[in-house]
Amino acid sequence: MPAGPDSPLADAARLLAGARRGVAFTGAGVSAESGITTFRGEGGLWTKYDPVQTASLAGFLADPAVYWRVSRDRWQTYRRAEPNPAHLALAALEASGHLTAIVTQNTDGLHRRAGSRHIVELHGEGGRVRCLSCGSEEPRAEVQARLSSELPPLCRRCGGRHLKPTVVFFGEGLPAAALSAAIELAGTCDLLLIVGSSLTVNPAAMLPDLALRRGVPVLIVNPEPTPLDSRADAVLSGPAGLILPELMRLVTASGDSSPVL
Ligand code: APR
Repeated sequence: MPAGPDSPLADAARLLAGARRGVAFTGAGVSAESGITTFRGEGGLWTKYDPVQTASLAGFLADPAVYWRVSRDRWQTYRRAEPNPAHLALAALEASGHLTAIVTQNTDGLHRRAGSRHIVELHGEGGRVRCLSCGSEEPRAEVQARLSSELPPLCRRCGGRHLKPTVVFFGEGLPAAALSAAIELAGTCDLLLIVGSSLTVNPAAMLPDLALRRGVPVLIVNPEPTPLDSRADAVLSGPAGLILPELMRLVTASGDSSPVL
């Protein structure tokens, strides 16, 4: 993407350089360049599997093996993946004082591994697995280890067949603390940087509206169009792993990389 003085990239860098309470809102696309397929868009997971059968509470209760067959491989991919330049640039933008937090829909843990500190995980994180019958919990790694011989995996305490990871399925509410933290951040930030989300899954996709309605700058990074492009202050069309480091470089070059907080 060209970075002339009037380009969307230059506009975005100027806005970000002036931000003191910026918030990043990320989706699956920020991890695409780490080798994790997105859900929608080209080659997305939901173009191969039915999301209702695979990842809704009703589908899971009807047949948990459908979820586990898909999740078994995806979790391995999560474990092998490394943070990419987009995750690293977001961590650097937090360290330099332009972003205060990341609100993410992702459950892959890559923002944390990249060094981001204030992370709100709207859709949970998959490190633990809970039995929906008796409530007992065990680490995902232990359940993962027995998936080759036990599908669906069974609860070690009660034998129940509905062991569910601590991530949010369709038809479930979001973790209350994470949702209220995200609402607070979207309602008080001075800039919202949206990266790699199709902005189609509610309630998460409603958060940008809280920033838009206050008139704070909203930036979008995505190689494909999103429903909010026409309302954004800058749309940076391309892969996050290329655009965010460039954005970070321009913010740093503007000499305003260490704001007084
Ligand atoms: N850089 C930036 N964006 C990218 C890249 C990339 N390299 N590659 C793809 N994208 C974009 C796609 O164009 C798409 O708009 O990332 C977006 C990913 O959208 P989704 O797959 O819908 O991901 P997300 O918005 O996070 O989905 C929300 O849906 O199924 C659920 O629970 C799941 O948390 C997920 C939720």
